Amino acid sequence: MNRTRSQALQRRAERFFPGGVNSPVRAFGAVGGAPPFIERAQGAYLFDADGNRYIDYFGSWGPMILGHAFPPVVEAIERAARNSPSFGASTAIEADLAERITVSYPAIEKMRFVSSGTEATMSAIRLARAATGRKLIIKFEGCYHGHSDGLLVKAGSGVATFGIPGSAGVPDEIAHLTIALPFNDLAAVEAAFAAHSGNIAAIIVEPVVGNAGCIPPHTGPAALSSGLVEKSGLVEKMSPQAREAWDAINGPADFLAGLRSLTRNHGALLIFDEVMIGFRVGGKSATYDPDLVTLGKIVGGGLPVGLFGGKRELMDQLAPLGPVYQAGTLSGNPLAMAAGLATISYLQEHADEVYPKLEKMTAAVFDGVAQEAQNASVVLCANRASSMWTWFFTGGPVTNYQQAAKSDTAAFARFHRGMLDRCIWLPPSQFEAAFMSYAHTDADVEATIAAAREVFASFAA
Ligand SMILES: Cc1ncc(COP(=O)(O)O)c(C=O)c1O
Repeated sequence: MNRTRSQALQRRAERFFPGGVNSPVRAFGAVGGAPPFIERAQGAYLFDADGNRYIDYFGSWGPMILGHAFPPVVEAIERAARNSPSFGASTAIEADLAERITVSYPAIEKMRFVSSGTEATMSAIRLARAATGRKLIIKFEGCYHGHSDGLLVKAGSGVATFGIPGSAGVPDEIAHLTIALPFNDLAAVEAAFAAHSGNIAAIIVEPVVGNAGCIPPHTGPAALSSGLVEKSGLVEKMSPQAREAWDAINGPADFLAGLRSLTRNHGALLIFDEVMIGFRVGGKSATYDPDLVTLGKIVGGGLPVGLFGGKRELMDQLAPLGPVYQAGTLSGNPLAMAAGLATISYLQEHADEVYPKLEKMTAAVFDGVAQEAQNASVVLCANRASSMWTWFFTGGPVTNYQQAAKSDTAAFARFHRGMLDRCIWLPPSQFEAAFMSYAHTDADVEATIAAAREVFASFAA
């Protein structure tokens, strides 16, 4: 495959940008080879500077759920641009988009728009600290919540891809305010609350992890690991023996329900970071009633948008009503709001077509590739939640970051390069999720499975 123009563009980019990129994982460091430079995209396809066409299972790291250059979204952006891209003053469209979001997210009574997921989580944490008067935050290993100082501790995405514990430049005093625990481990959370009684402001969690690869939460009964079981609102104490018997019968406890109970019992807030899964993997906020929710990616329809929101009395602590300061020159930008409104309106008005199609197409490619791996005796653990998934190159199970980290990343890199050479664009790291879009066709899925068959066959050679 010819990529000479992309290679030349990469060399030029390296003169101006560290690693030639404006976000680290784009450099393809974990999979090798120069990254193709993209010129345009349409529907399910990316076109690079050398004229190669790729079937895209990445969708700009998640936002492009309707496919690239989706006409209603492009038209909305064009219309907004003709009225000037920015005013720095309030516009009606901000409330139009907000109203749509509250329909799908009952946990969000009030919100504030920002320009990235990083800003959303950073601001939600500030608010949680102010509201509780506490400093400590619990996060989970392999979860990525953007690149603000306190949230880079044992983070996922690029931090996991490059195998680093955090980031240089984050003072220890800040990093020590973050407690990183294994995902799906309620006993660890209970122990942290016991050890830091009265000091934990909030738990922030990706309800379905995407940034260590796709890792769904345990969804068993609403039981806590060290002996509390919540049934019909009743919390009772169980002996360790009863606990063991309960687990044997019921399986692991519902992780998110456990987080909700623990935070309530200990006066801490629960923050669901749905920047990646929002409007893709439904229902988590509606079921578990978090205090704050962060969104991004899809709500901006491909333009830079994030938001944080939640209970009215919490959100009203923000300036100008309250003492918690947060602001943004381009927050609620009219172009970004137009793209977001067109995307969310389409998703809500065509939910009965969009989501079943996403489910069907995702199941087909997810199962089809896993079957090809099995046929070729390549060991995979395949995790999926709705239209996001990861093929981990390990026997599994993968229920937390430590297990994900056992993956054979060299095998993943080989798989990735083989697929890219067959014009299939997958996330360039074992520790990222793949995404389906509404624009993908049966033919795309078949081509992808056929490509995987060839690549797995080459593993044996
Ligand atoms: C769950 C989650 N939170 C926060 C972020 C940060 O968002 P952004 O890259 O827009 O700053 C990401 C980005 O991938 C994410 O997946």
